[in-house]
Amino acid sequence: MSAPNEVPALVAAALDLSRQRGFITSTRNETGRLLAALAASRTGTLAELGTGCGVGSAWLSTGAPKGSRIVSAELDPALAEVVQKLFAEVENVEVTSGDWSTLEKYAPFSLLFVDVHDVKRSVDMVADLMAPGGIAVLDDFTPSAFWPPIYEGRVDTVREEWLTDERFTAVEVLIDAGASVIIATRR
Ligand SMILES: C[S@@+](CC[C@H](N)C(=O)[O-])C[C@H]1O[C@@H](n2cnc3c(N)ncnc32)[C@H](O)[C@@H]1O
Repeated sequence: MSAPNEVPALVAAALDLSRQRGFITSTRNETGRLLAALAASRTGTLAELGTGCGVGSAWLSTGAPKGSRIVSAELDPALAEVVQKLFAEVENVEVTSGDWSTLEKYAPFSLLFVDVHDVKRSVDMVADLMAPGGIAVLDDFTPSAFWPPIYEGRVDTVREEWLTDERFTAVEVLIDAGASVIIATRR
Protein backbone atom coordinates (compact mmCIF):
# COMPACT_ATOMS: atom_id res chain seq x y z
CA MET A 1 0.00 0.00 0.00
CA SER A 2 1.66 3.21 -1.14
CA ALA A 3 -1.18 5.62 -0.36
CA PRO A 4 -2.93 6.56 2.89
CA ASN A 5 -5.92 4.37 3.78
CA GLU A 6 -8.05 7.35 4.70
CA VAL A 7 -9.84 9.36 2.02
CA PRO A 8 -10.82 13.03 2.39
CA ALA A 9 -14.18 13.62 4.13
CA LEU A 10 -15.86 14.88 0.95
CA VAL A 11 -14.78 11.78 -0.97
CA ALA A 12 -16.05 9.58 1.88
CA ALA A 13 -19.44 11.33 1.68
CA ALA A 14 -19.63 10.71 -2.10
CA LEU A 15 -18.64 7.06 -1.60
CA ASP A 16 -21.39 6.72 1.05
CA LEU A 17 -23.90 8.13 -1.45
CA SER A 18 -22.68 5.61 -4.06
CA ARG A 19 -23.21 2.76 -1.59
CA GLN A 20 -26.68 4.00 -0.59
CA ARG A 21 -27.76 4.17 -4.23
CA GLY A 22 -26.11 0.91 -5.27
CA PHE A 23 -24.08 2.90 -7.78
CA ILE A 24 -21.18 0.61 -8.64
CA THR A 25 -19.27 2.63 -11.24
CA SER A 26 -17.83 5.32 -8.98
CA THR A 27 -14.22 6.32 -9.47
CA ARG A 28 -11.77 4.11 -7.62
CA ASN A 29 -9.44 5.62 -5.04
CA GLU A 30 -6.29 5.14 -7.14
CA THR A 31 -7.78 7.16 -10.01
CA GLY A 32 -9.16 9.69 -7.53
CA ARG A 33 -5.72 10.30 -6.02
CA LEU A 34 -4.33 10.79 -9.52
CA LEU A 35 -7.10 13.31 -10.26
CA ALA A 36 -6.37 15.20 -7.05
CA ALA A 37 -2.64 15.32 -7.79
CA LEU A 38 -3.25 16.61 -11.32
CA ALA A 39 -5.86 19.10 -10.08
CA ALA A 40 -3.29 20.57 -7.70
CA SER A 41 -1.23 21.67 -10.72
CA ARG A 42 -4.17 23.45 -12.40
CA THR A 43 -5.72 26.91 -12.34
CA GLY A 44 -8.97 28.20 -13.87
CA THR A 45 -11.81 25.80 -14.61
CA LEU A 46 -11.64 22.03 -14.20
CA ALA A 47 -14.48 19.84 -15.43
CA GLU A 48 -15.93 16.36 -15.36
CA LEU A 49 -18.28 14.59 -17.74
CA GLY A 50 -20.43 12.04 -15.94
CA THR A 51 -20.74 13.09 -12.29
CA GLY A 52 -22.25 9.83 -11.04
CA CYS A 53 -22.45 10.15 -7.23
CA GLY A 54 -19.76 12.82 -7.14
CA VAL A 55 -16.65 10.82 -6.25
CA GLY A 56 -14.47 12.24 -9.04
CA SER A 57 -15.67 15.78 -8.35
CA ALA A 58 -14.86 15.30 -4.67
CA TRP A 59 -11.28 14.21 -5.46
CA LEU A 60 -10.86 17.13 -7.87
CA SER A 61 -12.23 19.49 -5.25
CA THR A 62 -9.78 18.31 -2.60
CA GLY A 63 -6.81 18.72 -4.96
CA ALA A 64 -7.67 21.92 -6.81
CA PRO A 65 -6.00 25.11 -5.62
CA LYS A 66 -7.90 28.04 -4.14
CA GLY A 67 -9.48 30.25 -6.79
CA SER A 68 -10.08 27.42 -9.28
CA ARG A 69 -13.47 25.81 -9.81
CA ILE A 70 -14.89 22.46 -10.88
CA VAL A 71 -17.96 22.00 -13.05
CA SER A 72 -19.42 18.54 -13.58
CA ALA A 73 -22.27 17.39 -15.84
CA GLU A 74 -24.57 14.47 -15.10
CA LEU A 75 -27.13 13.26 -17.65
CA ASP A 76 -29.52 11.73 -15.11
CA PRO A 77 -31.45 14.71 -13.66
CA ALA A 78 -32.50 12.90 -10.47
CA LEU A 79 -28.90 11.92 -9.74
CA ALA A 80 -27.65 15.42 -10.58
CA GLU A 81 -30.11 16.85 -8.02
CA VAL A 82 -28.95 14.52 -5.25
CA VAL A 83 -25.29 15.32 -5.95
CA GLN A 84 -26.02 19.06 -6.09
CA LYS A 85 -27.22 18.67 -2.47
CA LEU A 86 -24.04 16.80 -1.54
CA PHE A 87 -21.93 19.71 -2.82
CA ALA A 88 -24.28 22.49 -1.62
CA GLU A 89 -21.74 23.76 0.93
CA VAL A 90 -18.68 23.16 -1.28
CA GLU A 91 -17.66 26.44 -2.83
CA ASN A 92 -15.53 25.19 -5.72
CA VAL A 93 -17.89 22.54 -7.18
CA GLU A 94 -20.92 23.09 -9.41
CA VAL A 95 -22.96 20.15 -10.72
CA THR A 96 -25.08 20.67 -13.83
CA SER A 97 -27.82 18.46 -15.18
CA GLY A 98 -27.33 17.50 -18.82
CA ASP A 99 -24.76 16.22 -21.28
CA TRP A 100 -21.41 17.68 -22.37
CA SER A 101 -23.11 20.60 -24.11
CA THR A 102 -24.07 22.03 -20.71
CA LEU A 103 -20.35 22.37 -19.97
CA GLU A 104 -19.50 24.17 -23.20
CA LYS A 105 -20.16 27.61 -21.76
CA TYR A 106 -17.56 27.03 -18.99
CA ALA A 107 -14.76 26.03 -21.42
CA PRO A 108 -11.81 26.17 -21.95
CA PHE A 109 -10.76 23.69 -19.27
CA SER A 110 -7.41 23.27 -17.59
CA LEU A 111 -8.43 19.69 -16.75
CA LEU A 112 -11.31 17.54 -18.04
CA PHE A 113 -12.11 14.15 -16.53
CA VAL A 114 -14.06 12.18 -19.14
CA ASP A 115 -16.00 9.40 -17.45
CA VAL A 116 -18.70 8.73 -20.06
CA HIS A 117 -18.00 5.86 -22.42
CA ASP A 118 -19.48 7.45 -25.56
CA VAL A 119 -17.73 10.77 -25.06
CA LYS A 120 -14.34 9.05 -24.92
CA ARG A 121 -14.80 8.44 -28.65
CA SER A 122 -15.10 12.18 -29.33
CA VAL A 123 -11.50 13.33 -29.55
CA ASP A 124 -12.53 16.36 -31.65
CA MET A 125 -15.10 17.51 -29.11
CA VAL A 126 -12.70 17.13 -26.17
CA ALA A 127 -9.92 18.90 -28.12
CA ASP A 128 -12.22 21.89 -28.63
CA LEU A 129 -13.06 22.12 -24.91
CA MET A 130 -9.45 22.18 -23.68
CA ALA A 131 -7.21 25.17 -22.95
CA PRO A 132 -3.67 24.96 -24.37
CA GLY A 133 -1.75 22.84 -21.88
CA GLY A 134 -5.03 21.49 -20.48
CA ILE A 135 -5.09 17.87 -19.34
CA ALA A 136 -7.80 15.43 -20.40
CA VAL A 137 -8.10 12.28 -18.25
CA LEU A 138 -9.96 9.40 -19.91
CA ASP A 139 -11.06 6.68 -17.51
CA ASP A 140 -11.70 2.96 -17.81
CA PHE A 141 -9.33 1.31 -20.24
CA THR A 142 -8.02 -2.22 -19.93
CA PRO A 143 -4.23 -2.45 -20.31
CA SER A 144 -2.97 -4.11 -23.48
CA ALA A 145 0.54 -5.44 -24.05
CA PHE A 146 0.22 -4.88 -27.82
CA TRP A 147 0.37 -2.08 -30.33
CA PRO A 148 -2.08 -1.27 -31.71
CA PRO A 149 -3.88 -1.92 -28.42
CA ILE A 150 -6.26 -4.88 -28.36
CA TYR A 151 -9.44 -5.11 -26.31
CA GLU A 152 -11.69 -8.17 -26.42
CA GLY A 153 -9.91 -9.49 -29.50
CA ARG A 154 -10.17 -6.30 -31.57
CA VAL A 155 -8.05 -3.23 -32.10
CA ASP A 156 -9.11 -0.60 -29.57
CA THR A 157 -9.43 2.26 -32.06
CA VAL A 158 -10.55 4.76 -29.42
CA ARG A 159 -7.36 4.28 -27.41
CA GLU A 160 -5.28 4.19 -30.59
CA GLU A 161 -6.75 7.53 -31.63
CA TRP A 162 -6.12 9.17 -28.25
CA LEU A 163 -2.52 8.00 -28.16
CA THR A 164 -1.72 9.23 -31.69
CA ASP A 165 -3.77 12.41 -32.14
CA GLU A 166 -1.42 15.28 -32.98
CA ARG A 167 -3.40 17.79 -30.90
CA PHE A 168 -2.43 15.95 -27.71
CA THR A 169 0.64 14.49 -26.07
CA ALA A 170 -0.81 11.39 -24.44
CA VAL A 171 0.19 8.48 -22.25
CA GLU A 172 -1.61 5.44 -20.91
CA VAL A 173 -1.05 5.03 -17.15
CA LEU A 174 -1.75 1.80 -15.29
CA ILE A 175 -4.03 2.17 -12.29
CA ASP A 176 -3.54 -1.51 -11.45
CA ALA A 177 -2.86 -4.68 -13.41
CA GLY A 178 -6.34 -4.63 -14.96
CA ALA A 179 -7.15 -0.94 -15.35
CA SER A 180 -5.62 2.10 -17.00
CA VAL A 181 -6.38 5.72 -17.80
CA ILE A 182 -5.16 7.94 -20.60
CA ILE A 183 -3.71 11.33 -19.73
CA ALA A 184 -3.71 13.59 -22.80
CA THR A 185 -2.27 17.11 -22.64
CA ARG A 186 -3.58 19.61 -25.20
CA ARG A 187 -0.79 21.14 -27.26
C1 LIG B 1 -18.88 5.93 -14.73
S1 LIG B 1 -20.18 6.89 -14.10
C2 LIG B 1 -19.37 8.31 -13.50
C3 LIG B 1 -18.63 8.10 -12.21
C4 LIG B 1 -18.11 9.41 -11.64
N1 LIG B 1 -17.35 10.18 -12.61
C5 LIG B 1 -17.27 9.20 -10.41
O1 LIG B 1 -16.22 9.85 -10.32
O2 LIG B 1 -17.63 8.39 -9.54
C6 LIG B 1 -20.89 7.59 -15.57
C7 LIG B 1 -21.99 8.61 -15.30
O3 LIG B 1 -22.16 9.37 -16.51
C8 LIG B 1 -23.53 9.64 -16.68
N2 LIG B 1 -23.71 9.91 -18.13
C9 LIG B 1 -23.94 9.03 -19.15
N3 LIG B 1 -23.94 9.66 -20.33
C10 LIG B 1 -23.70 10.98 -20.07
C11 LIG B 1 -23.57 12.16 -20.89
N4 LIG B 1 -23.70 12.09 -22.22
N5 LIG B 1 -23.31 13.33 -20.28
C12 LIG B 1 -23.19 13.42 -18.93
N6 LIG B 1 -23.30 12.34 -18.09
C13 LIG B 1 -23.55 11.14 -18.66
C14 LIG B 1 -24.23 8.41 -16.16
O4 LIG B 1 -25.56 8.72 -15.80
C15 LIG B 1 -23.35 8.03 -14.97
O5 LIG B 1 -23.83 8.63 -13.80
